[in-house]
Amino acid sequence: MRVISCKNYEQMSKIAAGFIKTLVQAKPEAVLGLATGSTPEGLYKELVSAYQNGELDFSQVHTVNLDEYEGLGPQHEQSYRYFMNDKLFKHINVKEENTYVPDGLAKNIEAMLADYEALIDSFGGVDLQLLGLGHDGHIGFNEPCDHFEQKTHRVKLNSITLEANKRFFANIDEVPKYAYTQGIGSIMKAKQIVMIVSGADKKEILHKVLYGPVCPEVPASILQFHKNVIVIADEKALA
Ligand code: GLP
Repeated sequence: MRVISCKNYEQMSKIAAGFIKTLVQAKPEAVLGLATGSTPEGLYKELVSAYQNGELDFSQVHTVNLDEYEGLGPQHEQSYRYFMNDKLFKHINVKEENTYVPDGLAKNIEAMLADYEALIDSFGGVDLQLLGLGHDGHIGFNEPCDHFEQKTHRVKLNSITLEANKRFFANIDEVPKYAYTQGIGSIMKAKQIVMIVSGADKKEILHKVLYGPVCPEVPASILQFHKNVIVIADEKALA
């Protein structure tokens, strides 16, 4: 794992955006694995600026998101589809039909999950997977458990995640209790992984991810076994 230490959130966002810019400029048909949460918001602003300045063209890019809340549709402001449209897609020239987020309203859940995994495989794994880090060590919505989940699956969110994400909802009861997420195996298929981490509240979990044992109780620790991972974190998270 390569670790890049940044002064602050702004520098982290710029440096991480730089990796995506370089990829899209070199490979206009790149497949980007994208993430939600507060951490990537600055990075998405950087990409929008680069597009507006004429530095980037997303017309051939495909995007595959990590996860979605069960029961939330694209119109729900806290759905991850809405987040991606709002923060990135509607500001750039990516084609809507080339953007993929698990369907939070799927009727046939098993079929939707299998199709999502097949989609990732059809690309041979994404070119670059962007990741944030949950307070409990989750990536996507792969919560700590006793095994690494291989494929895109349905997951019950744990109390740490519900607590962390309640800030986006009226109260904790409004936070969906289940989600659909790429598995650890799906994420590990990516050719390159860029994980961004910011803030003092992530420093203990980040230390475990980087230097602790690789174990499913700290899902992101599996990244120690991926051959092309860059962790871009600010000084507070790396303290
Ligand atoms: C959410 C998402 C993750 C995200 C994480 C951290 O639950 N499912 O993909 O990386 O939590 O979010 P934040 O960046 O807001 O701390």
